Amino acid sequence: MADTQAATTTGLALRGDNLVKRFGAVTVLDGVSLTLGQGEILGVLGDNGAGKSTLVKILTGFHQQTDGKLYVHGDETLMRSVDHARSLGIECMYQDIALVNSLSIYHNMFLNREIVRSGPSRILRFVDHKQMRERAAQLLDDIGVHVPSVDLPVERLSVGQRQAIAGWHAR
Ligand SMILES: Nc1ncnc2c1ncn2[C@@H]1O[C@H](COP(=O)(O)OP(=O)(O)OP(=O)(O)O)[C@@H](O)[C@H]1O
Ligand SMILES: [Mg+2]
Repeated sequence: MADTQAATTTGLALRGDNLVKRFGAVTVLDGVSLTLGQGEILGVLGDNGAGKSTLVKILTGFHQQTDGKLYVHGDETLMRSVDHARSLGIECMYQDIALVNSLSIYHNMFLNREIVRSGPSRILRFVDHKQMRERAAQLLDDIGVHVPSVDLPVERLSVGQRQAIAGWHAR
């Protein structure tokens, strides 16, 4: 894939420049360049093993490129981790939804990012279920997912609803 656009990064949400990824002696990506404007949708096509997933893993901070540069909103960025990419608004939504079916909606929404509060001693910290419930209900309302209760296990939801929650979680 060649970057045919001029080297301007203004107005671009994301830009990859000459990305190379090697696993040991194997070169999986050999100079991939791409630009992604705000609100633009970009499809990546290729044979099995062409390197699509590897490219996405670089953009989402799961892998680091061996060579080449990434720009987020025009700033050169060394994506340190999935959390770092997420903090920049870049996240992978997998086809297999990574929710824990037996856990409640609100637990799933705050999985691994639970809201905590300090106890009186300020040494112990407690998971704030009340706040997580309220925030979860509000957030679902915002994205137009209507559920009887955020205490329901996600297995009770439709696939579409689960996708919406996984998508929100992915933000
Ligand atoms: N962690 C890894 N270590 C070594 N080789 C890897 C690793 N990850 C991917 N590869 C190799 O890199 C190549 C590209 O894999 P990748 O999964 O990116 O392809 P893909 O285009 O997503 O394929 P598919 O269409 O099958 O999903 C493959 O040859 C794969 O075996
Ligand atoms: Mg793949």
